[in-house]
Amino acid sequence: MRPAGPPDQPGRIVVLTGAGLSAESGIPTFRDGDGLWERHRIEDVATPEAFDRDPALVLRFYDMRRAAAATARPNPAHAALARLSHHPGVTLITQNIDTLLDRAGARDVIHMHGRIDSALCAACGHRWTAPAAMATSDPCPACGRPATRPDIVWFGEMPYHMDRIEQALAGAQLFAAIGTSGQVYPAAGFVDLARSVGARTVELNLVPTDDARDRFDDSIAGPAGETVPAWVDGLIGPA
Ligand code: APR
Repeated sequence: MRPAGPPDQPGRIVVLTGAGLSAESGIPTFRDGDGLWERHRIEDVATPEAFDRDPALVLRFYDMRRAAAATARPNPAHAALARLSHHPGVTLITQNIDTLLDRAGARDVIHMHGRIDSALCAACGHRWTAPAAMATSDPCPACGRPATRPDIVWFGEMPYHMDRIEQALAGAQLFAAIGTSGQVYPAAGFVDLARSVGARTVELNLVPTDDARDRFDDSIAGPAGETVPAWVDGLIGPA
């Protein structure tokens, strides 16, 4: 056993969240029965090649997701992780673009796959608040060129903030993967990096993922809105 430490000293904790965290806020996951990738093909809407081929279709897809995220509300799992994020030594990484952790009050969330409320200039790298409906002809507020795209990491692109993430994982004593299927790398490999430095690892998921028994020391099954607040209370005490 490598305990995370007593409740008042949780140690260095790295938390990775996925779409399951926001499921109870009404935002569909990707790979569950009614998931987004059941209704849209990744290669049509979530690659640089798709954007080159049919930018209007890709932008409509993200406009729709932006509208859904804007009306969604953080659930108790977001609120619990927000509370945890204010403790020293906690790094909160999300694959989710919905910004619900931020809206729950979380500190310093690492958005490794980008954020839906942000626009990015493909020409100069400037970022600004995304409009409700985005067009590639929108001029960049900084350089004026019409090279607007969602500030989202597509398949085939490098996730953001990898240096910071690897640094946090190298010092992790406890690693938690919450509501993620563990199918998309590099995020899916974070548990292995954490284990390689001796961190204890835990998965919180609606149902344990297929190889959870091999990859995680502990597995907590159930809806995030129930399991995450209880897990956080166990780490740092009740609110
Ligand atoms: N509570 C906890 N876990 C849940 C809940 C819930 N209420 N509902 C679903 N889950 C779990 C599912 O069991 C599944 O393992 O959440 C996971 C969601 O998995 P995916 O849909 O694959 O989402 P995620 O792992 O975040 O996807 C990773 O893939 O398409 C890309 O860029 C996209 O960031 C995304 C990445």
